[in-house]
Amino acid sequence: MEAATEIQPSSEHSQQELTIAGPDPQGRRDPLDRLIVALDFPSAEAAMDMVDQLQGTCRWFKVGMELYYAAGNSVIERLRERGFEVFLDLKLHDIPNTVAGAVRSVAGVGASLLTIHAGGGERMMRAAAEAASAPNAPRLLAITVLTSMDTAELSAVGVTGTPAAQVLRLARLAQTAGIDGLVCSAEEVAAVREAMGPAALLVTPGIRPAAADVGDQSRVATPAQAIARGASMLVVGRPITQAADPAKAALAILAEMRTAN
Ligand code: C5P
Repeated sequence: MEAATEIQPSSEHSQQELTIAGPDPQGRRDPLDRLIVALDFPSAEAAMDMVDQLQGTCRWFKVGMELYYAAGNSVIERLRERGFEVFLDLKLHDIPNTVAGAVRSVAGVGASLLTIHAGGGERMMRAAAEAASAPNAPRLLAITVLTSMDTAELSAVGVTGTPAAQVLRLARLAQTAGIDGLVCSAEEVAAVREAMGPAALLVTPGIRPAAADVGDQSRVATPAQAIARGASMLVVGRPITQAADPAKAALAILAEMRTAN
């Protein structure tokens, strides 16, 4: 795995007005570069309304299946025009030829990160990595085990052992296949960090501030716990987007991340 933790917003897209502190005086990574807000909304209008509410508190937004299937590439272009970095979370999982074609189809739209499922196997991931080697293509992240799944659910789909063991198995496979980074829960991120080394890009969803509703997630942690255990970036959806004051919720999470840095 290469030195992928150094992903930064490209300079022409980092001009937005920020209301919180920039570089940390002690040289720690700016939490703004480590927080990705999941725009799980059914339309571009709803998503952009949330973006307006969060202006100045976020640099990264995640466009997942719900929004992408409703709004397509244009919502990514709108986010890029506004200066944001985009994590395109399509969780691609199909035969190698089809996934490689899908990577090529979205390669030029301006996303910085794109997800595929590690469970699609080494040949699928290699084909995706090859397709993503084109100029301007996003970096690939392999989804290991969904943060909503627990041991019982994994065993029901035929995977014996703990989620952590399965995450590590898939992480090693993704590394062998040349994938840039991994998505795992904060429960196993410390073990993955140890196995993959300090340069690996590890993205962690399933983040819940101490008092927040867990919802459909199973393997959750607070923002500070996830950072302390070695996550490079955090994905946070409902704790921010469903909060009474989303900007305030985002700022609280950024402050918590800063304490754990
Ligand atoms: O609302 P919440 O914070 O639970 O949102 C988490 C986001 O992270 C969702 O958009 C979900 O699709 C995504 N995700 C996840 N687990 C993974 C990969 C992505 O929850 N393993």
